Amino acid sequence: MKHTVSTVQKQKERGEKIAMLTAYDYSTAKLMDESGIDMILVGDSLGMVMLGYEDTISVTMADMIHHTAAVSQGTKDALVVADMPFMSYQTSVYDAVSNAGRLMKEGRCQAVKLEGGKALCPQIKAITEASIPVVAHIGLTPQSVNALGGFKVQGKSEEAARKLIEDAKAVEAAGAFAVVLECVPAKLAAMISEMLTIPTIGIGSGGGCDGQVLVYQDMLAMFSDFKPKFVKHFADVGSMMKSGFQAYMEEVKAGSFPAEEHTFRIDDDVIEKLY
Ligand code: KIV
Repeated sequence: MKHTVSTVQKQKERGEKIAMLTAYDYSTAKLMDESGIDMILVGDSLGMVMLGYEDTISVTMADMIHHTAAVSQGTKDALVVADMPFMSYQTSVYDAVSNAGRLMKEGRCQAVKLEGGKALCPQIKAITEASIPVVAHIGLTPQSVNALGGFKVQGKSEEAARKLIEDAKAVEAAGAFAVVLECVPAKLAAMISEMLTIPTIGIGSGGGCDGQVLVYQDMLAMFSDFKPKFVKHFADVGSMMKSGFQAYMEEVKAGSFPAEEHTFRIDDDVIEKLY
């Protein structure tokens, strides 16, 4: 079944949790899609997990289009959402619509995600009115790492919690069809999820959200630079990859790979004529 903006909305109405993961390439997206994942996010976290940067600031539109196109090629049923990179939408409503359009036209995603609450509502409204569905992202917004003073839990004081609630209501009113809540205290995230009619997708925000998202290299233990508190390792693929690489290396060095069944034949009389 193809997941769409309306099937995701119906999942919230039925109280059925939404499962989202990030992906950045064709093969991984295909495996996720075949596993039945509801939504795939081509996150700008690719700056860290694919390109080795320390944050998402340097990710470009070219990076996002390149990876989104690969993910879209591998996806049949999941709803593909592409992140709008830093400075592709903050600069003006025009830039926001134009860059969201490029992600959809060139990357073939079905929705875009952008970071920010009330202040970004003109962009959310304009992109939505251009028929491009928008996922908003509030709480810890990694593109604002320099303004926030680091990757920290958000909304802990009464004032900050009230601001988050206002932001959540504002992005819903502006037309967002879902909102990511990142590093929001669990009770506040659950309260926001109850207040909104659109689904909330949590990351580090507890089980009261309507859905969850994780970076796939985090949940498969493939990324070892750091492990946020909210990450659970669902499989140790990192260790499996290392054993696979070591087994290959040992067989190459021992001369046992490639074996007969991995090689192509030629008639001996052809070879003899070459001497
Ligand atoms: O870029 C990303 O991967 C994200 C999610 C982790 C929400 O924004």
